[in-house]
Amino acid sequence: MSPIPPSPNGLPEAATVVSRPVSRCDHLGVHPFSDTQDGLFRAYLSDAHRSTCQQVAQWMHAAGMTSRTDAAGNLIGRYEGQTPGAPALLIGSHLDTVRNAGRYDGTLGVMLGIEVVAHLAERGERLPFAIEVIGFGDEEGSRFPASMLTSRAVAGTLDTLPLDAVDASGSTLGDVLYHAGLDPARYREAAYTPEQVVAYLEAHIEQGPVLEAADMSVGVVTAIAAQYRFKVSMVGVAGHAGTMPMSLRKDALAAAAQALVEIERIGASGPADLVATVGQLHVGPGASNVVPRQVTFSLDIRAGTADVRDRAATKIRTALQDITDTRGVALRIELQNDLAPTPCDPELTARLATSVARVTGQPAHRLVSGAGHDAMVMAALTPVCMLFLRCHKGISHNPAEAVRHDDAHTALLVMLDFIQALAATPAPTPTEFSA
Ligand code: GLV
Ligand code: MN
Ligand code: MN
Repeated sequence: MSPIPPSPNGLPEAATVVSRPVSRCDHLGVHPFSDTQDGLFRAYLSDAHRSTCQQVAQWMHAAGMTSRTDAAGNLIGRYEGQTPGAPALLIGSHLDTVRNAGRYDGTLGVMLGIEVVAHLAERGERLPFAIEVIGFGDEEGSRFPASMLTSRAVAGTLDTLPLDAVDASGSTLGDVLYHAGLDPARYREAAYTPEQVVAYLEAHIEQGPVLEAADMSVGVVTAIAAQYRFKVSMVGVAGHAGTMPMSLRKDALAAAAQALVEIERIGASGPADLVATVGQLHVGPGASNVVPRQVTFSLDIRAGTADVRDRAATKIRTALQDITDTRGVALRIELQNDLAPTPCDPELTARLATSVARVTGQPAHRLVSGAGHDAMVMAALTPVCMLFLRCHKGISHNPAEAVRHDDAHTALLVMLDFIQALAATPAPTPTEFSA
C-alpha cells in the first residue's frame, strides 16, 4: 500500500475520502458560528448558536428534510417515512460547545445524521419510520450551570427550568429565552411521547484514546458513566496582604488549593473509571494585595457506577469539611447536576455491533463512555444506542480535537446499514426492545 498523505491537521487520511460531515464541522468551527473570534465557543442561544442553526437548517433542507425549532431551542429536521406522520427514528447530538472547543464534539453527530438522510433522499428511499435529526442546544452546560436542559425537555424529564440561572455576562436563562423568542412557560412542550419515537441513535467522537489504541475506526457504546456536578463555595475573611499575619488568616484560596489536591488524590485512589475534576475557579475579591475572601469552584465526579461515584463524593465532602473546619473557612456544596449511569439498549447495541462488523469486517469494539451525552437523557424516552468514532490521541474539549475523514465515512456506512436493517424488520416498539 502506498503511504497515506497527511491531512492539514497532521493525521493520516485516506486521500480519496473527503467526508462532508467533517468538512461541515470545520466550516462551523469559526466566527460567525463561534461566539469568540479566537477558537470555538458556541453557547446555547447565543448569536453563534443562532447562525449555526440557520446554516444547519439549510443543510437539512438540501438533504430533503423539513426543519423546525422546538420550544427549547433545539433544531429538528424531519424526513418522512413511507407513511406521513409515522413515528421517527431520532438521530441526534448537540450543537453547543465548551469554551475553546474542538470542532467535532457533538456537531459531527448532527452532521452525520443529515448525511444519512441526504443519502436516503438521493435514492428516493422512504422507510417504515420517519427520521428526525436533532441538533440539541444545550448539552455541555457551558452557558448556564445546568447541562442537558434541551434533551431533558425533549425526553420529558425536565421538572423545573432554572430561569434564575445566570451566565457569565449576568443574563438569566429567563432573559436569554425571552430574547431568543422562546416562552419559558412552553419550554417543556418540546417533549415527545414514546409513541412518536422508534429509537434514538447518536454518533459521537470517542473523546478518549481506546479506539485509537485498538486501531479501530468506530466502536459501540455499552453504557454512559454516572455524573455529578457540584458548585463549591469557600468563604473566609478578606484582609490586607501586608498586615495580616499568616497565623491569623482565613484564606479561602489557600483552603481551596488544599481541597483541589485532596480531590485529585481521592479521584486517583479509586477504580480506573473514577474521575474527579475541578475545571472552573473564581477568586474574590481577586486582588494581589488582598487575602482572598471567597472562592467558588466546579467539581465534576464520574464513574461507571453510581456506587463508586457516590462513595468518592462522600469522601470528598468529608475531606473538604475537615480542611475548611481546620482553617476557619465556611463551606457550601451545591449539587447542580446528577446524571445516573445509563446502559445503552442491549438489543439496539447488538444491532449496531452487527452493522459495525458488516461494514468493517471486524468484530465491533465495545466501550463505556466516560463523557456525558444527550443519549443518557434520551434513554428515559426511548431505547438508545451510540456509535463512537476514533479521535486523535483521545483529545477532546480542546481545539486540537481531530477525526479522520475515512473514519467519518465508515461511521456513515455503519449508520446506513443499521437503519436499513432496522427498516427491514417489523417496525420496532419500545416494548419489543426492552423485552
Ligand atoms: C460533556 O461533554 C461532558 O461529558 O461533560
Ligand atoms: Mn463535550
Ligand atoms: Mn459531546
